[in-house]
Amino acid sequence: MKNWHHTDRILAPSLLAADWGRVSEEVSRAVESGADWLHLDVMDGHFVDNVSFGPQMIQSINENNDVFLDVHLMISRPDHYLPRFIAAGSDMITVHVEAEHDVTNTLAEIRKAGVLAGLALNPATPFEKVVPYLDQIDLLLPMTVVPGFGGQSFMEDMMTKVEAAVAYREQHGLNFHIEVDGGITPLTAKIAAKAGANVLVAGSSAFGASDMKAAIAAMREA
Ligand code: DX5
Ligand code: ZN
Repeated sequence: MKNWHHTDRILAPSLLAADWGRVSEEVSRAVESGADWLHLDVMDGHFVDNVSFGPQMIQSINENNDVFLDVHLMISRPDHYLPRFIAAGSDMITVHVEAEHDVTNTLAEIRKAGVLAGLALNPATPFEKVVPYLDQIDLLLPMTVVPGFGGQSFMEDMMTKVEAAVAYREQHGLNFHIEVDGGITPLTAKIAAKAGANVLVAGSSAFGASDMKAAIAAMREA
């Protein structure tokens, strides 16, 4: 598998916006349209007000595809479920700083399994909350919508966190990716990339497009 660097522009369509009655065709459509990663939103109905899918879905996608699996855990106890998401074949596991767990320990457990470790923060959470962990992660995800649902509008205010993360990364010689998730379109992709985000998650604007290849290309070039 390719070794991704934070200077690479990475397009990660979110399966949440796919047609779930045809998951395998939808995954193939994303890969054939130029997706670099597949973003998988796991929701427990507790950390966020929605329920999606779990490790069994991820395992079955992993068994049938080589695409990089970017797993976003919007669940209250990521530490408890972690072994199952690791066993399912996740390539990146992102946990929330607001969840009920020992963040340092969870990140270490992810890396110990040879999986990349991501840390997400909600729009209401200040950048300062993730600072203690920035030397322990492979990816930072400042959410650009309140997590739970696709199809919401991009919160441009969150770009101050992206800029703060870029500055911190530079000052401390770190290498983590910066991902944005929520409301990404060719227009907002440009704003996010300009602020310094390199991983662009797109649900509705990717799977919702009749020409997904053109949609991904537009966000890659934005
Ligand atoms: C939101 C999820 C997102 C979602 C994005 O809770 O974390 O990954 O799929 O969807 P769009 O791109 O439609 O805003
Ligand atoms: Zn997500």
